[in-house]
Amino acid sequence: MKTIDELLAEGVAGERVLVRADLNVPLDGATTPEEQRITDDGRIRAAVPTIRALAESGARVVVASHLGRPQGASDPRFSLAPVARRLGELLGRPVAFAGDTVGDSAKATVGALADGEVTLLENLRFNPGETSKDDTERGAFADQLAALADRYVSDGFGAVHRKHASVYDLPARLPHAAGYLIADEVAVLRKLTQDVRRPYAVVLGGAKVSDKLGVIDHLLGKADRILVGGGMVYTFLRAQGHQIGDSLLQEDQVDTVRGYLERAEHLGVEFVLPVDVLAGRGFPDLVAKAPTHPETVPADAIPDGLQGLDIGPRTRKLYAAKLADTATVFWNGPMGVFEHPDYAEGTRAVARALLDSSAFTVVGGGDSAAAVRQLGFDENAFGHISTGGGASLEYLEGKTLPGLAALED
Ligand code: 3PG
Repeated sequence: MKTIDELLAEGVAGERVLVRADLNVPLDGATTPEEQRITDDGRIRAAVPTIRALAESGARVVVASHLGRPQGASDPRFSLAPVARRLGELLGRPVAFAGDTVGDSAKATVGALADGEVTLLENLRFNPGETSKDDTERGAFADQLAALADRYVSDGFGAVHRKHASVYDLPARLPHAAGYLIADEVAVLRKLTQDVRRPYAVVLGGAKVSDKLGVIDHLLGKADRILVGGGMVYTFLRAQGHQIGDSLLQEDQVDTVRGYLERAEHLGVEFVLPVDVLAGRGFPDLVAKAPTHPETVPADAIPDGLQGLDIGPRTRKLYAAKLADTATVFWNGPMGVFEHPDYAEGTRAVARALLDSSAFTVVGGGDSAAAVRQLGFDENAFGHISTGGGASLEYLEGKTLPGLAALED
């Protein structure tokens, strides 16, 4: 895999370099691109070093990304226009925004670039070719993207697990290199898969247990301790035969989860589940954020009518104790509905425990990374905050990631 430093050493002045970044940031939901505000710009900041290095070396930089999951057609709610504005502020130089991906606007904007200038194309997923399962359709879109550039730099770590035109097919069409973010992310995740320092704990949260099955399966042979929280934990509690009231349940996963608990016991891997939870009557309003008066209830007997929405106070202490003596921690997914102040303490307690421990910590996943920042923690105090949720999980699962495989020659 060629590095960006090797590419820069070859010289890129005057060349059009297409940088595939992951600028898929959360927006506040306003309906027009002019009004939309970015609620967490972490991924844009992470993309800056590569773009800046290319621009400062005189390249004509064409940045491309997806945002959200539009269905292959233009949709103003998913426009990258607000991202172009923020990218320009962070780079300290204007970023010309192309109103389409490979059409007249893209061609004109790229054609007008002078050496050292930067443009951002409109959301790649406005074109059905980007995510198509059909190789020919994807390839045709990759051909059109390739016509806009002389070289390709892959730096969208959050999307490298996607077999998409700009991630997988485009590097086959242009001389390519990996950007700084890809290099950083892969170096850190490698530390979690080779010669990991022990004890090694993994903290998993988030809503859906089905999203985490692959990684749990794989980590059963690797981690010493797995702590579970978030909406997915209630499927574990049900698998243990407990009453979970109105909490989130993936009924079709109960048997699989029970199998994991049995395998963990057999392998001597410690599965740590909550002993108490904070429960509310219904899901809280995340816009008004009005007080909901949560109740603390035992995790093995959540009454009907109550929904578990965060780990409870005894669990916070238990999880902090289980993280205190660790040497390595991977954390993916919040412990509760941290966006509402009534249910943020569990996620806050895990973040604090990681800062208090001397463990090498990797926080993976858009939600956990956003949670850390939104709860006011200094992100630089953590070993590494990954920009990739699904990508980091699939890397840890030992899967071949299409966007990384495509960079190998
Ligand atoms: C992410 O948010 O994890 C990446 O940007 C990939 O987005 P996707 O899951 O919509 O492909």
